[in-house]
Amino acid sequence: MNDILQAKFMREMCDTAANMYRLGWDERNGGNISVLLDPNEVADCLDTDRVLRRIPMNFHAAPLAGKIFLVTGTGKYFKNVRNDPETNLGIIRVSDDGSTAELLWGYADGGRFTSELPAHLMSHMVRLRIDPEHRIVMHTHPTNTLAMTHIHPLDEKSFTRTLWGTCTECIVVFPDGVGVLPWMVCGTNEIGEATARKMETYRLVIWPQHGIYGVGRSMDEAFGLIETVEKAAELYMKYAAFPVLNRITDAQLDDLAHAFGLTYRTDFLDL
Ligand code: 13P
Ligand code: ZN
Repeated sequence: MNDILQAKFMREMCDTAANMYRLGWDERNGGNISVLLDPNEVADCLDTDRVLRRIPMNFHAAPLAGKIFLVTGTGKYFKNVRNDPETNLGIIRVSDDGSTAELLWGYADGGRFTSELPAHLMSHMVRLRIDPEHRIVMHTHPTNTLAMTHIHPLDEKSFTRTLWGTCTECIVVFPDGVGVLPWMVCGTNEIGEATARKMETYRLVIWPQHGIYGVGRSMDEAFGLIETVEKAAELYMKYAAFPVLNRITDAQLDDLAHAFGLTYRTDFLDL
């Protein structure tokens, strides 16, 4: 058996949580990450026949039956993940009927998976239907993105258009735009279902005055999407109070899209 703490997926989770904390996105227990694991990589470092605990999930995830996820724990601080992965993280397998998480490793102090597991697993279900190589759901509280949701209209077209128009690279990184939910109570099945519905057409979903979700095939992809939104939001928060003299026009965004061969949400521009 290999040392699970040295597994690539574990090191990547620890490094990512530390990096996100360093960026100031994950105060206290803010944020959560789930990673769909390769069962062979898990079997290299864990006895997958040994279930430590069975934790009810209060929602059904039957399409994920048998799938194994590395998930941050509820109430756990991103700043502590690297120093104590076994307390702050868990490896769970979705039971055959999709109703229970079988704990294979972690949550060593008797803890459990993030309160946002509904949004994570429901988003995994949707994204796996769209992209069989999908792996990551990431939720975090990036400062400027949250600030922007206080002062910018929350419709998806204008929010996306402002981000695209703020930095040239934005439309290249997220040509599918940004989904925006109304403010909702977090940690519920309802916000999970609403987030997953947005994930049918977006890889980024904003929860106003709360945070953002990003998904991807890799940690870099999910992180890179969120990082790019946050960079644009930071710029927006620096210029929003000033008269804007220059902006990227809709025609220029369309030129960019053509130059990069992008399929983008053309209905978000007025061409
Ligand atoms: P958890 O500690 O349950 O992961 O919750 C943190 C959070 O960001 C809620 O949205
Ligand atoms: Zn949150």
